[in-house]
Amino acid sequence: MNKENGTYNKHLQKYSRIVQDDNDDLVLQFTTEVLGLESLHWGYWDDNDQLNLENLKKAQKNFTSHLSSFIPEGVSQILDVGCGIGDNALHLSENGYKLTCISPDINHQKAFKKLENGKINFHLSGIEKFFSEKQFDLALMSESSNYFDKDIGFEKLASLIKDQGFILSASLFRKKNTEVYSNFHIESEWLESAKKMDLKL
Ligand SMILES: C[S@@+](CC[C@H](N)C(=O)[O-])C[C@H]1O[C@@H](n2cnc3c(N)ncnc32)[C@H](O)[C@@H]1O
Repeated sequence: MNKENGTYNKHLQKYSRIVQDDNDDLVLQFTTEVLGLESLHWGYWDDNDQLNLENLKKAQKNFTSHLSSFIPEGVSQILDVGCGIGDNALHLSENGYKLTCISPDINHQKAFKKLENGKINFHLSGIEKFFSEKQFDLALMSESSNYFDKDIGFEKLASLIKDQGFILSASLFRKKNTEVYSNFHIESEWLESAKKMDLKL
């Protein structure tokens, strides 16, 4: 993405907006208040588990603990990019990590009001416009990398993590260019974009 020709700015206008409406996020209200879910991700399923609500809740918890098992030793400060309603952040903070969490959605800001403490901080921002004095040991993208441009995302993340820092991502990808799920990045292109920022797999 070329910053000089205005494409970058157009992208920022399109994607990096604050979701202002705290009143009619029906999907969020339905999933949290009616279904009683605490997560916005799809979960990590046991192959034999039937598709039902109880198993979805179990799979969502499995996902969070499985995800945290990938965090390398020595990591302390984590930037949770696209943090949703905070189930990953809560789990990680209970396991000793310090979390800076960002999402451009005011509904998520409300959810975090209950969670913020000395170990969890929330910022209402997309990755594109997020700045921090702090350098992070690890940036986490849990089912959020598909919400922003890959090149802008990696450029920002590379500037926000320490020299020997990490990016941990668990997301949905496409293997090739398809019309369906076009909002998901194509895995090979996404990895190529990371390489351009000198990030190693
Ligand atoms: C599917 S949810 C995943 C939430 C959470 N990480 C989880 O695993 O449950 C996607 C998240 O990405 C956030 N998001 C959307 N646009 C973003 C952007 N430009 N920068 C950072 N996060 C963004 C959404 O607000 C939401 O919190």
